[in-house]
Amino acid sequence: MAEQESLEFGKADFVLMDTINVTEFMANLKLRFEKGRIYTYIGEVIVSVNPYRPMNIYGKDTIEQYKGRELYERPPHLFAIADATYKAMKRRSKDTCIVISGESGAGKTEASKYIMQFIAAITNPSQRQEVERVKNMLLKSNCVLEAFGNAKTNRNDNSSRFGKYMDINFDFKGDPIGGHIINYLLEKSRVIVQQRGERSFHSFYQLLLGGPEKLLRSLYIEKNAAAYNFIKSGGVVKSAINDTAHFNLVADAMKVIGFTADEIQTVYKIIATILHLGNLKFSMDGDSTLIESSKLVSVIAELLSTKTDAVEKALLYRTVATGRDVIDKQHTDQEASYGRDAFAKAIYDRLFCWIVNRINDIIEVKNYDARIHGKNTVIGVLDIYGFEIFDNNSLEQFCINYCNEKLQQLFIQLVLKQEQEEYQREGIPWRHIDYFNNQIIVDLVEQQHKGIISILDDACVNVGKVTDKMFLEALNTKLQKHAHFSSRKLCASDKTLEFERDFRIKHYAGHVVYSVVGFIDKNKDTLFQDFKRLMYNSSNPVLKNMWPEGKLSITEVTKRPLTAATLFKNSMIALVENLESKEPYYVRCIKPNDQKSPLLFDEYRCQHQVEYLGLMENVRVRRAGFAYRQTYERFLQRYKMISEFTWPNHDMRSDQEAVKKLVECGEFQHDVAYGKTKLFIRTPKTLFTLEERRTRMIERIVLFLQKVWRGTLARLRYKRTRAVSIIINHYRRYKVKSYIREVGRRFQSVGTMKDYGKHVKWPTPPKILRKFDETLHSVYQRWRAFLLIRSVPPADLPQVKAKVAALENLKGQRGDLGFQRSWEGNYLATKRDNPQMTPAFSARANELKRKDKYMSPLFSSHVRKINRFNKSEDRAIFITDRHLYKLDPMKQYQVMKTIPLYNVTGMSVSTGKDQLVVFHTKENKDLIVCLHKMEPANENRIGELVGVVANHFRRDNNCRGGFFFFFGLASRTKIYGGGKKSTSATLTTKILVNKVLNCNWPISPTSATWKKVRKDTFR
Ligand SMILES: Nc1ncnc2c1ncn2[C@@H]1O[C@H](COP(=O)(O)OP(=O)(O)O)[C@@H](O)[C@H]1O
Ligand SMILES: [Mg+2]
Repeated sequence: MAEQESLEFGKADFVLMDTINVTEFMANLKLRFEKGRIYTYIGEVIVSVNPYRPMNIYGKDTIEQYKGRELYERPPHLFAIADATYKAMKRRSKDTCIVISGESGAGKTEASKYIMQFIAAITNPSQRQEVERVKNMLLKSNCVLEAFGNAKTNRNDNSSRFGKYMDINFDFKGDPIGGHIINYLLEKSRVIVQQRGERSFHSFYQLLLGGPEKLLRSLYIEKNAAAYNFIKSGGVVKSAINDTAHFNLVADAMKVIGFTADEIQTVYKIIATILHLGNLKFSMDGDSTLIESSKLVSVIAELLSTKTDAVEKALLYRTVATGRDVIDKQHTDQEASYGRDAFAKAIYDRLFCWIVNRINDIIEVKNYDARIHGKNTVIGVLDIYGFEIFDNNSLEQFCINYCNEKLQQLFIQLVLKQEQEEYQREGIPWRHIDYFNNQIIVDLVEQQHKGIISILDDACVNVGKVTDKMFLEALNTKLQKHAHFSSRKLCASDKTLEFERDFRIKHYAGHVVYSVVGFIDKNKDTLFQDFKRLMYNSSNPVLKNMWPEGKLSITEVTKRPLTAATLFKNSMIALVENLESKEPYYVRCIKPNDQKSPLLFDEYRCQHQVEYLGLMENVRVRRAGFAYRQTYERFLQRYKMISEFTWPNHDMRSDQEAVKKLVECGEFQHDVAYGKTKLFIRTPKTLFTLEERRTRMIERIVLFLQKVWRGTLARLRYKRTRAVSIIINHYRRYKVKSYIREVGRRFQSVGTMKDYGKHVKWPTPPKILRKFDETLHSVYQRWRAFLLIRSVPPADLPQVKAKVAALENLKGQRGDLGFQRSWEGNYLATKRDNPQMTPAFSARANELKRKDKYMSPLFSSHVRKINRFNKSEDRAIFITDRHLYKLDPMKQYQVMKTIPLYNVTGMSVSTGKDQLVVFHTKENKDLIVCLHKMEPANENRIGELVGVVANHFRRDNNCRGGFFFFFGLASRTKIYGGGKKSTSATLTTKILVNKVLNCNWPISPTSATWKKVRKDTFR
């Protein structure tokens, strides 16, 4: 049952109707047709209404939707049946078949094509070439068969005028590996005559309208269908089908399938021969019969690759064997015409059968070995002519309708049987169902001795002239009591029947009046042996092969051939036997109107079909007590949410028990039966109630699922984040640890190294340890410094500290800071710098020591001083821990100026090689000097001067609290340092803003920039 569609489209399964009656059935069918839902189920049977318009429901997407699905999972569709068939075949390795029935124009052939397409689409996923070839052949063969076996009738522009049963063979993997076609009774009378408004087989028009000029010329035919008697009786040439295009398609298909060029040529020759035969006329000249158009005879002879006189003889004479003698008996013109028509029909029929055989040769399964390839299974597709009632119904209609009776019988048997078997399997008692069994009509037709076919055969066998009337008489006598047979003689009041011409059969599908005219001839289906021999003697091997029985000599042909009706009956019995052995699936086609209109739903016509197709019975059988059945598992899956005992999962021992509980909760227990594996529900009402409750719960379930799912997502996210952070932490820890370990490893023995590990390369720290790394560096450096300093003799310490101070202030700003040499500081007291004047300087220093009470001298040097007028003079500076003295070397180092050190706010030196230094003072009276006269002459002492002074101030600051006063003025110093508020000499300003000092110094300072060393940076 298909549950997915909304009820606005009607009920997807007729079994779900509230009450079973025709009115409701029709209303549902109509509603669905109008809503464009052409398919509806009756259980597993599908009812299809011809939409008479292209429907967008056969595309790839739809195929995907139905592929591998169960019948009830999707809205009703032909594909669902095709898939069910395929699955049954594949899963259970069972042969299956699809029986498509319905009247002419109801859509059987279209359905069979869609089924083939679906099967082709879902098989051979691995695209094996051989399988693709087979599929292509199967699809292409259809096109050829339709050209030769279909015709336009008043009911259908593309009506199949033959029955077709096609087996598709599959290997164990379910891939098609070949096929076989059986054709049934081609309506060959159409070759020579058609009813008004109808056409002959498409092949004639295709050749005439689509054949290339050259081909037509070689066949001696012209592009004019009206010129040929055999195909003009219907009065129509055109149909909705494009003959020209189809000619090419068919020619192409024949080539693809594997017809040789000779074979295709012969096919055209046969068609042309038939057209020419139709134009042959006979006349009597005294006793002898003449062919009026002898030219045509030679054309025919040429086309058939025989001799002209042989053709002529076959048309005019008949060879008869009387005992041992063989004589030629001349036809009357009537007999000759009869012979000609029979010949035309026969060669077309032969051609058609030959085409089917050729296709079979090609698509047949080859090289299949069940031991290697596994079991070979088949799906059969039966597309056979539907029930027909014409104005004039003859033997063809009789056969066709008999065929439909047989199929209906099979349908009843199988559907009932299936149903009964299911009940048996499920252990549910079977109840009798009332339905019409058409076996009685089948018997009326086919019973031995008593049936119509037997009576007809008897009439044909009788020697002497038996007429159609005599046959009707025999029917009247033998069947007068039969409830389904009547004639005017048996029912004199029935004016719809003509005396001595008509009889009526009450078919299951309706009453049909048959005219007996032509029954005997058609049944005998006489074709004079002469024609068979003529064809066999053709020098065209293709033609010769079509007529093997022409080989027999006249005296050998004694056995009476089976009659047409008996042949047909036998083929039907064989067909039914074949279908019975398979698992059947049914497609029941309905034609909505006779106008081929997509809009019209002719209720009367439809209801008639619904009745004779036995669809109501089908519903009844299916509903025999139970409208719906489903396996417990599936049932639970669908409805478990409506009971707390089953949602989300039950804890009972079996699904069956759970279903029982669910049913009891809903109080449906009086409307169900429990089978072994399935639950059976009696009325659709219960099912709808279940559906309603389910729909109501679905909303909540959706919310619930959303909630759970959101929760799940959030939990997943949380877990992942947590996992990520744990991983990160562990990784960080690992990085930190491995860094520390690495530092430990590298620095393990630095204590014993000569440079205390200075050369050791530090590992790169992880980001997080940057700060720590800095601290560690400084710790290490302090340690190393400590070790280094420890090794310095105490006397050298002040010098080392001064060097450090110099480095701190000038690192990277000046070239040579003089670290390599020892800093003696008080150079004026050394013999090297001051060989002559050392005593004078020492005396002065001692005097100052006494006077100013300094503790130690820091620095002394000869300098050249520059005043604000750019005048230079030789001077000396002497820096003690208390004062900066400017001395005059010419006058025994007489003190010219004394600046207490605390008045010195900063020093400026350049970054060049010069030894210019500016002492800034609080009074803004800067002292600008340039060291000179040092020994050796190029010794640069600026580094030393800055280092010694800086070191002094630092030390002072560290140990002498009184010096804080000095720093109280720092702010002013800063302003001064910025140079903005300076009101002092221009020169000072110049220096402070790092401009070029334009003086005549020993070394040009032009390249130098100035570095100001402020006292507060000495700290
Ligand atoms: N499923 C369908 N979709 C569209 N048109 C259809 C469909 N089935 C049938 N038809 C139309 O109806 C016509 C007759 O169908 P066909 O299958 O030849 O009938 P049948 O074989 O039963 O005599 C087709 O030529 C086509 O125009
Ligand atoms: Mg058809």
